[in-house]
Parts: sequence; structure tokens; C-alpha cells
Amino acid sequence: MNSIRPITDPSRPKVYIETYGCQMNVNDSEVILSILQDAGYALTDDIEEASVILANTCSIRDNAEQRIWGRIDQFKLQKRKRSGVVIGIVGCMAERLKDKLLENVDLVAGPDAYRSLPDLLKAITPERPQINVLLSHEETYADISPVRMDRNGISGFISIMRGCNNVCSYCIVPYTRGAERSRDPYTIVKEAQTLFDNGYKEVTLLGQNVDSYYWKDPQKADRNVNFAQLLEMVAKISPELRVRFSTSHPKDISDEVIYTMAMYENICKHIHLPVQSGSSIMLEKMRRKYNREWYLERVDKIRSVIPDCGITTDVIAGFSGETDQDHEDTMTLMEKVVFDSAFMFAYSERPGTLASRKYPDDIPYELKTQRLNEIIALQGRMSLKSNEKEIGKTLKVLVEGPSKKNPDELCGRASNNKMCVFPSRGEKAGDYCTVEVVSVTSATLICKRTE
Ligand code: 5AD
Ligand code: SF4
Repeated sequence: MNSIRPITDPSRPKVYIETYGCQMNVNDSEVILSILQDAGYALTDDIEEASVILANTCSIRDNAEQRIWGRIDQFKLQKRKRSGVVIGIVGCMAERLKDKLLENVDLVAGPDAYRSLPDLLKAITPERPQINVLLSHEETYADISPVRMDRNGISGFISIMRGCNNVCSYCIVPYTRGAERSRDPYTIVKEAQTLFDNGYKEVTLLGQNVDSYYWKDPQKADRNVNFAQLLEMVAKISPELRVRFSTSHPKDISDEVIYTMAMYENICKHIHLPVQSGSSIMLEKMRRKYNREWYLERVDKIRSVIPDCGITTDVIAGFSGETDQDHEDTMTLMEKVVFDSAFMFAYSERPGTLASRKYPDDIPYELKTQRLNEIIALQGRMSLKSNEKEIGKTLKVLVEGPSKKNPDELCGRASNNKMCVFPSRGEKAGDYCTVEVVSVTSATLICKRTE
């Protein structure tokens, strides 16, 4: 069996990779490492010994990019210390800024250009930095086996599609990752099987909008595969292999997906369903293609079929023209749904997006921050409320390792994605434990052993 872990070979030139942004980027870095290993490199986690330093970057908000600029300055110090060191920016920021980055780095490669990395690296000279930011309609890296860089060898990411065909007006992703394309399902199942054969107990299927996954079989139309069918194919690998997925789009999540989740114990009962705003006026302007009522109906449907389903979300505060009433609508929606947790952001205008062209970024910084803080405080109360409902329940937890606070305790996630801590009986990462919830905080379920 081919190793899916980084190879260690002291004689090889070393590549150091920092990853920013989403889970998909984490998986992309694993694809990049696979390509570079085949070209003779080996991974290092010590920047001081790297001959190639890569940052796999994110453009989603301005502050994500600012952080990376800070890192580029630090990378440059390495270049000054050691001759021949190459600095590369890959991923979304590479795609967005293109040759504007070339003054600062030796290599710029967009999300669809990773296969060309070995050639680009070969061609770099001090006078000639290299760039490839071509986007593709076909590239899914389906045939590349990612080299896994996660810490504990239990949970792995699998990209099932790339790009995005939605035109949410605030979002840079369609511009940095190009058009949506779905990956051959048989290569996905094979990758999940390989992870399972290597001791992994959980796979997360990744896409910008997994519900629009659709594989057209080139030979026979009756063998086309939609997302619900793909979920089932992966779930059937083994009842011992948990299946998660992210991200779902409220406009596209189908009843078929919800029923498929309900049918398989090992498909985790958790849906990340970004709402962005509780105001139908804002949702229209954001071009989300659903309104408040539609969103609430989808939540009701999920909960009627899967009563214990974890539901998490993303919220943006202070989008263009957001009134006090729009903000209030977001707050009341959050109170109604009681999300288990949420990622919450202040709106950041991204150059080139529809919103940047059509709608002024007109909510003052102070007001945006105030609204964001109100949203964060409310979500804290909602997380606690949601967790309190778990008290007395029995949950099956996949052990991730010792708890950070107390080495005699273990931590791991329940099917609904909530973090549990509980006394150890010597189990290790990757074991399943059954526990009962005795008390909670807004972030954690504190549990006792049941058997
Ligand atoms: N400003 C703030 N947040 C954004 N997101 C996407 N684009 C922006 C932006 N321009 C948030 C959305 C999305 C998550 C990944 O990032 O909530 O769901
Ligand atoms: Fe991921 Fe979006 Fe950031 Fe790109 S811009 S890395 S797709 S979160």
C-alpha cells in the first residue's frame, strides 16, 4: 500500500507549507504535497530548513489577506538568511492578485495550477519569478492521492468538487476558484476507502456547495450520481467510518439528502447551513436565492426528519444598506433556530465582486462591529441553550485524543459535531466511546461514562 503520510527522506529538498482559510485549502495543501513529493521534495515543519516556502492563501476577507502579507515579510527574512530559498503564494490570493504578487515572491499559482508546480519551481531564477493562474473547467485533481498532513490520522478531508457557480454578491470565491465541477464519484469512494484502510475513522466531503454535486457519467446517463447518492456510496464503505460534509446551501439542500442522512447511522447528524442574514431584503441583495421563510422551512424539515441534527451557520454583519431592522431580523432568526454554533463575520468588501460594483460598503466600522458583537453575544447564549438540551442524553463519541485541560480526560465529537470531554479508560484516538452528558458550557459537553 502506498503511504498516505508525508515521506521523510533527509536527502530531499524540503518544502514548508502554511495553510490559510477553509478546509478545502487544507485538502488542497495535501494535493500540493502529493504533487511535490512525486517531484522529489519532502515536507518539513521547520521553515529554517526549507528550500521552498509556500503559503496556501485565502482571500475571503481583507483581514485574511492582511495576515498573509505579514507572513510574506517574515518569509523574506528566510530568503535573506539563506540563498536559493524560494517563496511561493498559491491558492485564492494568488488567483486574485496574480502578477501583483510577483514583486514580493518567486512563485504564484492559482487553485487550478498545482500540477504545474514542479515545472514552475524548476524554471524560477532570481530574475524570473514564475506564475500560473489559469482557471480550468475540468481540473478536479481526481487522480491525485493527497498526502495527509492532519495530526492524529483519524479524520480526513476529501474534496468532491471544485469552484462555485453561485453569485453571492459579496463573495470572491467564484473569481478565485472558478466554475463549479464535480469529481468522479468512484475516485472519491476509493480515496475514502484508502483512508479507512489506513486507520481513519471519519471523512468530510468538501465542496463550496455540496448539494449541487452532480457527476455526469460520460458513458451512461443512468449512472449519473447526485450528492445524496454519493453520500450513500461513501457511507456504505463501513459502519465504522463516519461521514461528514460541508458546506450545504439553503437553496439547494434536498429532502433526498436529509432522508439519506437519516438512513445511515454513520452519516453524522450535522449540517453546516450558512444563513448569512435573517433579513429577506439583505438575502435578496446578497443574491442568496432564498428568503427568511425558505431558510426556516429547511430547518423545520431537517428537524422533523432528524430531530437531533446539529445545525451550524455563518452570519455576516453590516452588509451594504443593512438597517437596524435587517439586523434585528438576523437576531430573531438566530433566536428562532438556536444554532449549535456559528462563524460570524463583519462584511468585508472584496474588489471585483458584484457587491463592490453595485452596493456601497456604507455601514460604518463602529456600527458593523457593534452589530457583530451583538450577534456573537447572542450566539453564545444560543450555544449554551442548545447544549443544555443535550443534558441526560447518551452520545457516541469518536475520540480525538486527551483533553487539552486534563490529560486524564479524553475529548472527541458526537455525531452532531459537539465537542465532548469525559474520563479516560485508556482509549486512544480513533476509538468510539459511549458517554452521557452531565453538564455543559457554551462550547463543550461534559460527560460521564455509561458502560
Ligand atoms: N465579508 C464577510 N464575510 C464573508 N464571507 C464570505 N464573503 C465574505 C465577505 N466579503 C463569509 C460567509 C461565508 C463564509 C465562508 O465567509 O459567511 O459563508
Ligand atoms: Fe477557501 Fe474561500 Fe478562502 Fe478561497 S477564499 S481559501 S475558497 S475560504
